[in-house]
Amino acid sequence: MRIVVIGGTGRIGSRLVGLLADRGHEAVAASRKTGVDTVTGEGLADALGGADVVVDVTNAPLLEAAEVLAFFRRSGERLLAAERAAGVRHHVALSIVGVDRLGASAYMRAKIAQEELIGESGVPFTILRATQFFEFLGTIAAGATIDGVVHGSPALIQPVAADDVAAALADVAVAQPAGVIDLAGPVAEPIHETLRRFLTATGDAREVVEDPTVDYFGAHLEEKSLIPTSGRERLGPTTLDEWLARA
Ligand SMILES: NC(=O)c1ccc[n+]([C@@H]2O[C@H](COP(=O)([O-])OP(=O)(O)OC[C@H]3O[C@@H](n4cnc5c(N)ncnc54)[C@H](OP(=O)(O)O)[C@@H]3O)[C@@H](O)[C@H]2O)c1
Repeated sequence: MRIVVIGGTGRIGSRLVGLLADRGHEAVAASRKTGVDTVTGEGLADALGGADVVVDVTNAPLLEAAEVLAFFRRSGERLLAAERAAGVRHHVALSIVGVDRLGASAYMRAKIAQEELIGESGVPFTILRATQFFEFLGTIAAGATIDGVVHGSPALIQPVAADDVAAALADVAVAQPAGVIDLAGPVAEPIHETLRRFLTATGDAREVVEDPTVDYFGAHLEEKSLIPTSGRERLGPTTLDEWLARA
């Protein structure tokens, strides 16, 4: 199967291209570094020639609110139009668990816009909504730091290893289009506890306090805002402790 991974040079994309190639597929990494720009359309038609499946694991280079929304809109429109023209039969995208509950966050609004474009595109699709990557916990801690102290919400988080996200995407990419699927790590616990464990293990001396008033990148969190609630989610096997031991 020819599978084009848009964002195939990034954190998830590079892992995914390797996994698909190991499984005997023709996996093509596409991004600006390989001459493919989904925002301008440069190189897109050529890259999609003969593709059976396209996986979109791009991310906006700048995380300012207006730029992120413009990126996911423009990129999604161009990519999906190019897929229709090329006769691609399965579009796979990586989104975020709970995105539809977190519209107060500008980043989440941009991901919602991305999902809406996919739903309206007419291209058969699977959207894999993943929880926060273990690799993203440092960014969460940075965003929650006030005067050197990390303010951790008591809301639950169920983070997942980037390797497990890539493995789930590799499965999804070669299966039939399946709509929206949630993926989480094996354990849910309060954010302040996860951050405390993460910072201790990484030798970071910042104090972590529980703070029910702290928001999450602009969104207020309820207890289960960030975790799957359907009971049908797929679980990545790696625990935070296993990942920390490996890292
Ligand atoms: N962080 C989390 O915890 C989390 C959780 C759930 C879902 N997600 C989602 O996971 C996705 C991937 O995240 P990641 O951490 O793997 O991202 P990343 O490492 O920042 O990689 C982003 C990729 O997008 C490519 N890219 C950027 N602009 C492009 C453009 N105009 N045209 C073509 N390619 C472009 C980049 O390559 P070039 O620079 O070469 O263009 C790179 O390959 C994101 O959509 C994010 O919303 C993240």
